[in-house]
Amino acid sequence: MPNHLHGRSLLTLRDFGADEIQHLLDTAADAKAARLRGVFPRRLEHRNIALIFLKPSFRTRVAFAVAAADEGANLEVLPPEDIRFGQKESVRDIARQLGRLFDGVVFRGFEHELLRELSEHAGIPVWNALCDTYHPTQVLADLLTLREVFGRIRGTRLCYIGDGRNNLATSLMIGSARMGVDLRILAPPELQPAPELLKELMTQGSVGARITVGDKPEPALEDCQAVYGDVWVSMGEEKLIEERIALLRNFKVTPELLALTGRDDTIYLHCLPALHDYSTRFARAHPDICEVANEVFEGPQSRVFEQAENRMHTAKAVMVLSIGNPTGPLGAAGVAPRLRAR
Ligand code: CP
Ligand code: NVA
Repeated sequence: MPNHLHGRSLLTLRDFGADEIQHLLDTAADAKAARLRGVFPRRLEHRNIALIFLKPSFRTRVAFAVAAADEGANLEVLPPEDIRFGQKESVRDIARQLGRLFDGVVFRGFEHELLRELSEHAGIPVWNALCDTYHPTQVLADLLTLREVFGRIRGTRLCYIGDGRNNLATSLMIGSARMGVDLRILAPPELQPAPELLKELMTQGSVGARITVGDKPEPALEDCQAVYGDVWVSMGEEKLIEERIALLRNFKVTPELLALTGRDDTIYLHCLPALHDYSTRFARAHPDICEVANEVFEGPQSRVFEQAENRMHTAKAVMVLSIGNPTGPLGAAGVAPRLRAR
């Protein structure tokens, strides 16, 4: 199959078609199966990858680090204080410097615009590891998890509960529209996605795609095969804690809420980190901020750590398809975009 992803950035799933997302998921599934057999093809040998995180991260960082190590790449973590985007140096100059030495950049930051600027001037792929607007690499792992559990993505009934306007919800809507998921967003009116976004996504949506939004649990959860949560207060929004508790306290995923699906095999997903009852000192200090009850998070329907593992397999697919040599180290087809471009 021709690789249309070679040399491409992943800034948002808006830029990708269903076939391309499918190719990423197939590559991730193959890499996962190969790893289980102890096969490590080292398709990123002689590739240098920069990792720049302006917001904290545990999972995304280790997912990219382990994926890079498995495939033979060198991954360099660049502390933000050494770079200081737009303060010590312009974004354009930083991008051009990165593009001279690296083959790809994993970047977590605030404004999406900065990612666009970086990608435009670096001349190498930039992969969005979360920004204020999107979290595309997370949603690739979510789609892979749905496919593993249900054997297919198209037509899967998924209910996201919480802040329906945040980066995760937005990317989940894009990924669902592209891949034909029946996605229900259950959120209070103040935290529901903009109608224009829904309209735009559905006009480009695939067969089977359906996105509905509401604040009533019964219709949203009816016959759902998967329920998905995120924190109520995203990174950078900490001052909104009390407001979010007031808006979302009735949307906590408890066993009773989960039972509204009418099924006993509905799985629970969460991008993590999660605040479940008493899980951290912060959760103990603010018991009302927990988006999920322990009985659900720790229960038999929870698939959150399979989903978290899939971050690594999908990160690997992203890097291998955009800068790797699909057949192994150093073949002619595997010349890195950086070395070919100049
Ligand atoms: N899900 C996710 O992006 O986790 P981290 O913030 O720990 O990277
Ligand atoms: N919406 C969350 C996602 C964390 C993975 C945040 O931005 O903090």
